[in-house]
Amino acid sequence: MQTVLGKKVGIDLGTTTTRIIVKGEGMIASEPTAVAIRGGGMQAAVFGESAFETAADDPEFQLKHPIARGEVADAASARWLVNHAMIRAAGRQRIFKPDVVIAVMSSLPGGQRRSLLEAAALAGARTAYLLDAPLAAAMGAGIRLSGPNGHLVIDIGAGKTDVAALALEGTVSGRCLAGHGGMRLHACVADQVRKEHGVILDAATVEEVIASLARVGPHEERRLDVMGMGAEDQQEVSLTITSTEMNGCLDAHVHPILAAVDAVIADTPGRLLADIQREGILLCGGGAQLEGLDRAIAGATGIEVHRESQPQLCAVRGTGYALDNLDVLKRALMYIR
Ligand SMILES: Nc1ncnc2c1ncn2[C@@H]1O[C@H](COP(=O)(O)OP(=O)(O)OP(=O)(O)O)[C@@H](O)[C@H]1O
Ligand SMILES: [Mg+2]
Repeated sequence: MQTVLGKKVGIDLGTTTTRIIVKGEGMIASEPTAVAIRGGGMQAAVFGESAFETAADDPEFQLKHPIARGEVADAASARWLVNHAMIRAAGRQRIFKPDVVIAVMSSLPGGQRRSLLEAAALAGARTAYLLDAPLAAAMGAGIRLSGPNGHLVIDIGAGKTDVAALALEGTVSGRCLAGHGGMRLHACVADQVRKEHGVILDAATVEEVIASLARVGPHEERRLDVMGMGAEDQQEVSLTITSTEMNGCLDAHVHPILAAVDAVIADTPGRLLADIQREGILLCGGGAQLEGLDRAIAGATGIEVHRESQPQLCAVRGTGYALDNLDVLKRALMYIR
């Protein structure tokens, strides 16, 4: 007889995006990592895209960003976030308690780990596990970690860069750069345009500038016409930005990533390194989409680099795989039950 079980819920708790997967249903949500909270006697919270509207419309609600630089920046709103993610995935009324796997930054401190696990338990999880982002990303990209072979994974998100050599469901060596990711590159480009042109760009324009002009390594200069606001006179202006202007920010973004990869390689035993040289490096996270980054890493390491086609989904897919293999993976997971 088959036992009837609760749902299996995977949550990738990213700095800017929270993605939720339910076994058998696929990805059921991809929402901004934001919560609007009403304190006081009648506590309430709204999660995701609607948190922005709620906070704007209702002065009793405050907008919170639970994760910053890959870390739990606001414990109370992080607990609400986990609670709401589980309600979204498994409903409020449940007969069977769900199993939950949450992907987190590998250098997340112990206290923050316990706080997330407690939040999942309070939200009604039967078991709750944390999975480090590089392991999640590798599993999500289809790498099977059960054998003795070595693998190297780079996860570049909005708020952190997580690099790890993996083998036997565990991390052999790793470097995690908290605060180093797409948001920092974004801020650098916005500053650069302000300094160079005296113009302030809105967030969507900065994203557009990065997507169409930022390119790591030698390339023919490209140009993009955008609209912005004069920093002095607050008047709308049009301006042309060139890809050459991106170079300083790109160097500041790419060098720490290459240094982290070098350090991980230096810490990895030769036998595993031979596997990695044969198999290649896996590049995941939204930041993997930066043009030319794969080639720059390949050039610096002499190892082939594979980029997933939807790199921002590696980690959440990995939580799905982990949910199916909880028994095998216990060694790699921190959990409560
Ligand atoms: N074409 C692109 N070039 C460069 N960066 C990009 C591109 N597309 C998306 N990004 C960056 O990817 C980042 C989002 O990645 P992702 O969704 O993996 O982050 P996250 O999981 O929320 O954060 P983290 O894992 O750091 O906690 C954004 O900062 C965005 O700027
Ligand atoms: Mg992420």
